[in-house]
Amino acid sequence: MKKTDSRRSFIKKAALGTTVLASSPAILSSKDVQKELLKRDVKKINKNDHIQIAVIGAGGMGVADSKTALSVPGVKMVAACDLYDGHIAAAKEMWGKDIFTTRDYMEVLNRKDIDAVIIGTPDHWHKQISIDALRMGKGVYCEKPMVHDITEGPDVIAAQKASGKTFQVGSQGVSSLGNEKAKELFEAGAIGQFIYAEGFWARNSPVGAWQYPIPGDASPKTVDWDRYISNTTKRPWDPLRFFRWRNYRDYGTGVSGDLFVHLFSSLHFITSSIGPDKIVATGGLRYWKDGREVPDVLLGMFDYPETKSHPAFNLSLRVNFVDGTSGTTYLRMVGSEGAMDVTWDDVYLRKNLVSDPIDPFLAEKTKNTDKVFSERKKMQPPKEAHYSAEEGYKGAHYDHFTNFFNGVRNGTQVTEDAVFGYRAAAPALLCNDSYFNNEIIVWDASSMQLK
Ligand SMILES: NC(=O)c1ccc[n+]([C@@H]2O[C@H](COP(=O)([O-])OP(=O)(O)OC[C@H]3O[C@@H](n4cnc5c(N)ncnc54)[C@H](O)[C@@H]3O)[C@@H](O)[C@H]2O)c1
Repeated sequence: MKKTDSRRSFIKKAALGTTVLASSPAILSSKDVQKELLKRDVKKINKNDHIQIAVIGAGGMGVADSKTALSVPGVKMVAACDLYDGHIAAAKEMWGKDIFTTRDYMEVLNRKDIDAVIIGTPDHWHKQISIDALRMGKGVYCEKPMVHDITEGPDVIAAQKASGKTFQVGSQGVSSLGNEKAKELFEAGAIGQFIYAEGFWARNSPVGAWQYPIPGDASPKTVDWDRYISNTTKRPWDPLRFFRWRNYRDYGTGVSGDLFVHLFSSLHFITSSIGPDKIVATGGLRYWKDGREVPDVLLGMFDYPETKSHPAFNLSLRVNFVDGTSGTTYLRMVGSEGAMDVTWDDVYLRKNLVSDPIDPFLAEKTKNTDKVFSERKKMQPPKEAHYSAEEGYKGAHYDHFTNFFNGVRNGTQVTEDAVFGYRAAAPALLCNDSYFNNEIIVWDASSMQLK
């Protein structure tokens, strides 16, 4: 998206958001937010108290997040907000008929008995609900991508700073044993000079390609459609746009916002990178011609400039929803001395053989030493090492919620805060802008601005 287009759509969305969403207070400046917070009696969580949570958007991931959150000791569910009656009913069944339920998320945020919220709504609601929740003094676990449009990040960052509350984005891989081990190996120089990385996500099923079932009772009675579209384009009731929202640009962020963002998050965590400065994407709608507005094959290329934590390197990412690869995912990091395949539970480290002694380039470089041409054989490192999580590992998702609740309870800093979340979301969102506008995008990852 061009800067001007982007800005225009932002202003339009912001205007719609404030006029139509009557229950949300008007957007305040950071200073006002701080003043308002100081006035409010925000509940302190004592050591032995439960952290009381609510879920806003109790669909697939909101429920999965809530279940994981509740498996962390000392956490209690007190409220659920959703726009579909079927999901409200399911929430009551799961967490008890006494939990508070509503279609209006401000009714959740206004409650003093709630310390933190999980935001599991479609992407177009992430920004506003996050800002409102932070303003009301809640800890926030917001699903990825942090925002729906490149223009939306700075307001969330400002709201987090002003609130002083814990805000964590939901790319759980960042808290995993696998990513931690990869970071340790990377920093110890296990792959030598870092040259490039590649990531891949493939799916080969209708549900994998977002063809979700539509509930039999879906209707404007059971779904609060007006509220759903209150911050975006007005359209008549359309169950596909509600239950298969990922296919439409008003609500979702395409395969890059859905999946690339996880790969950016892990890569940035492992390399301590702040992001690329050049973004190009291409692809197409090859197979799922079901009315969707976004490609089902997407290839992204990214240039990362040199920083203190890594040399300049290239990244290539692809998502394929058409099959041919039987549903796989990986993140591979390649250096001058080897490569690492990284998942949330495993790291495969493959080392190159020692350099070929007749390599003329190396011979020239080392002509004043006799080391390379020495007759004596050398000790070789293992060609391959496989690090895997110990049996019984509760997984990335559990670790991510543990980190979040440590933040909420003790004020511990989380890795995937608003700045990190925006720097991971930005190149994913800019892939869409590159693809749809057919342009190369130049991004300043340090100041987090388009150039
Ligand atoms: N971290 C991960 O691995 C992961 C996996 C899947 C989804 N996600 C993210 O989770 C979010 C939800 O995805 P999903 O697959 O669960 O979608 P979903 O359609 O299953 O659930 C979304 C829910 O939000 C509700 N909703 C919509 N607008 C709302 C609003 N304004 N207020 C309250 N509720 C509202 C809907 O009724 C629905 O129940 C997305 O941002 C997605 O990217 C993350």
